[in-house]
Amino acid sequence: MIAIQHVTMQLVAAGQTVTILHDVSLNIPEKQMVAIVGPSGSGKSTLLGLIAGLDRPTSGTIWLNGVEITGLREQAMARLRLANVGYIFQSFHLIPTLTALENVAVPLELAGDPQARQRANEVLQAVGLGHRVSHYPVQLSGGEQQRVAVARAFACRPPILLADEPTGNLDSTTGQQVIDLILALHRDLGTTLVLVTHDHNLAASMERVITLRDGRVESDQPAYLQPRDA
Ligand SMILES: Nc1ncnc2c1ncn2[C@@H]1O[C@H](COP(=O)(O)OP(=O)(O)O)[C@@H](O)[C@H]1O
Ligand SMILES: [Mg+2]
Repeated sequence: MIAIQHVTMQLVAAGQTVTILHDVSLNIPEKQMVAIVGPSGSGKSTLLGLIAGLDRPTSGTIWLNGVEITGLREQAMARLRLANVGYIFQSFHLIPTLTALENVAVPLELAGDPQARQRANEVLQAVGLGHRVSHYPVQLSGGEQQRVAVARAFACRPPILLADEPTGNLDSTTGQQVIDLILALHRDLGTTLVLVTHDHNLAASMERVITLRDGRVESDQPAYLQPRDA
């Protein structure tokens, strides 16, 4: 369960205080699939970063599975994130000097898995990249790189997966493959999904669609009310 209570985020830019999120409160139950949509600049990435504990809100509290992360120190937050949260970025964010296998092994090694490489290999097989384990990111297509990023995010079987426009840099066919993969992993592992997206089809594949506008929750609806592209 993700509980967001009265979260406000302000930043100071050029001497001016800017409020990016205004008193946002949301509860996301375990295993739910949620899309966060809204215009560019509405605060979607900021909210996702706060849920991941990559940033701290100016005020308000965030709870992940019963732990108030807004009260944690850096090191405790890093440990909790490793065990609980997978994160997928729009632009893949793979480490260029590591192979696909090594990229996926990183979180497993950090978590102290003695069979990190073997487990990374299995996860890469599961995302259909068994023939690409020794390739470096630059030798992979965009879709393949994002599948490596999906494998890395799921490697430690986190209860929560956060993804910021995971199909934003992919063509629609490749994007659909990445969506199908995330949905399959959700089905198999019961992962709570929170996905930021501009993609109507992806939003409609979730259970719930939260729309942000100017840092506020504008609407919060079941996904079946979402328009789907043909
Ligand atoms: N580090 C920062 N300094 C100043 N303004 C920022 C910073 N990060 C984000 N913003 C502003 O906060 C608002 C929300 O940003 P963001 O969460 O990235 O929106 P979205 O992901 O919905 O496009 C935007 O207006 C953006 O310009
Ligand atoms: Mg964003």
